[in-house]
Amino acid sequence: MQPSYYEDFSEIKKKIWSLLDNAVKDRSSPFRIPVFACGNQNDIDGRIVVLRKSDQTNNLVQFHSDIRSDKIEKLKANKNAAMLFYDKDEKIQVRLKVECIINHENEITKESWSKTQHISRKCYLVDNGPGTESDEPTSGLKPELDNFDYTKEQSEEGYKNFTVIQCKIKSIEWLYLAAKGHRRAKFNLENNKDTWLVP
Ligand SMILES: Cc1cc2nc3c(=O)[nH]c(=O)nc-3n(C[C@H](O)[C@H](O)[C@H](O)COP(=O)(O)O)c2cc1C
Repeated sequence: MQPSYYEDFSEIKKKIWSLLDNAVKDRSSPFRIPVFACGNQNDIDGRIVVLRKSDQTNNLVQFHSDIRSDKIEKLKANKNAAMLFYDKDEKIQVRLKVECIINHENEITKESWSKTQHISRKCYLVDNGPGTESDEPTSGLKPELDNFDYTKEQSEEGYKNFTVIQCKIKSIEWLYLAAKGHRRAKFNLENNKDTWLVP
């Protein structure tokens, strides 16, 4: 028996958003760690990020980063990016084309930072930004920080580096693998056009 979303646009969209919503809460969901790809001209790169928010009403997903990361400069030059998800058990691949908004020291970062756990704040406490070259292998942290030996007050130092990347979804592409026949569909959210594609 095929699932309800096998050949039904609205059921597919429902399924996609349920996978995204669930990934924000469920640490073990494969959709929690998509690949985020962005770039400028011939310098294109993908990296894993953690999905932190999914908002169907506004066609938005978001993740956190360090303002000093290489991708920030790339996004400033080209706000167009892509996100890629795959759930092996569901046999569903989702590709998003997005437009990014970089949030730094504003109401959005304030809200997300207040919900960022003590241990996660460690990422933002490195002295030099992610990608900085080092003469020796390093975490980039001072030894006391490496051991999680910091107070809530000290963790606040990380806020100046904390960035929320909001990804406004322009289109969604869905691929479902099934023995009976794969199915593929594209949802253009800018003109509300749903299309079947050959898988
Ligand atoms: C499981 C996992 C989760 C990650 N989550 C994030 C994240 O949410 N945000 C982020 O900027 N980098 C995250 N990273 C690190 C990135 O993959 C990447 O190494 C880092 O952002 C530096 O690369 P860039 O500056 O070129 O993007 C994560 C890596 C792994 C393996």
